[in-house]
Amino acid sequence: MKAMSDDTQPAAVRARGIVKSFGTGDTQVTVLKGIDLDVYLGELLLLVGESGGGKTTLLSAIAGILDIDEGDIDVFGVPLSTLPAGKRTTFRGQTMGFIYQQFNLLPVLTAAENVAVPLLIQKAARPEALHRARIMLDRVGLGDRAEFLPKNLSGGQQQRVAIARALVNEPRLLICDEPTAALDGPNGQKIMELLREVGRSPDRCVIVVTHDSRIFHFGDRMANLTDGRIVGIERIKQEGTA
Ligand SMILES: Nc1ncnc2c1ncn2[C@@H]1O[C@H](COP(=O)(O)OP(=O)(O)OP(=O)(O)O)[C@@H](O)[C@H]1O
Ligand SMILES: [Mg+2]
Repeated sequence: MKAMSDDTQPAAVRARGIVKSFGTGDTQVTVLKGIDLDVYLGELLLLVGESGGGKTTLLSAIAGILDIDEGDIDVFGVPLSTLPAGKRTTFRGQTMGFIYQQFNLLPVLTAAENVAVPLLIQKAARPEALHRARIMLDRVGLGDRAEFLPKNLSGGQQQRVAIARALVNEPRLLICDEPTAALDGPNGQKIMELLREVGRSPDRCVIVVTHDSRIFHFGDRMANLTDGRIVGIERIKQEGTA
């Protein structure tokens, strides 16, 4: 049976009272003004909202990449703020995959090497890491581009390399910032099918920031981030359900 949000199930991600400002004095902007959010195992949560509204900031906070000013974030029961920086990085590497809005590929590495990076960080042997990276590239439709450098790939192909890199170590929490922004309709659908498959695993979950209404139906719930707050969370009606 599919694991889904109910009051009895602990959240995989539990954010409470998240406040984050940038800048100081007159130029200070409070981007997150008290965010409460739960993400449950077995779900794909969509996060939508106006440009500049703080979606990327929230994802970075959940990933423990960005320090917050106030609030608490637990990921799989671990309070991120209590972990020293080194342990947080290790925890992130073991449990999370992150697809950045800017793809952040390493320009001197081939597609396969880029995808293998998370495995190499986890101390996998290089041939095994590259083998798994090529399998993952194949799944995103880039089996024939494994030896290309990022500069010789199109924007959409680079995005798919970044997606393969985020998926390769089978993270329990997958965080995706506009994963289909550079993709055409069919490739966007294909990627969302992959992400939904991850989200449907009973011990994994996916957060997807998107502006792309063509992919909304892949989500289980949609949270709307406006003016620094989650102003609504709605369950998305799945095709074929009443
Ligand atoms: N490092 C930073 N220093 C100063 N301001 C920042 C920083 N990072 C983000 N901001 C500001 O925080 C606000 C929210 O940015 P964020 O990138 O989270 O928005 P977003 O919702 O992801 O927007 P988009 O949909 O355009 O990607 C913006 O006004 C931005 O200028
Ligand atoms: Mg953003």
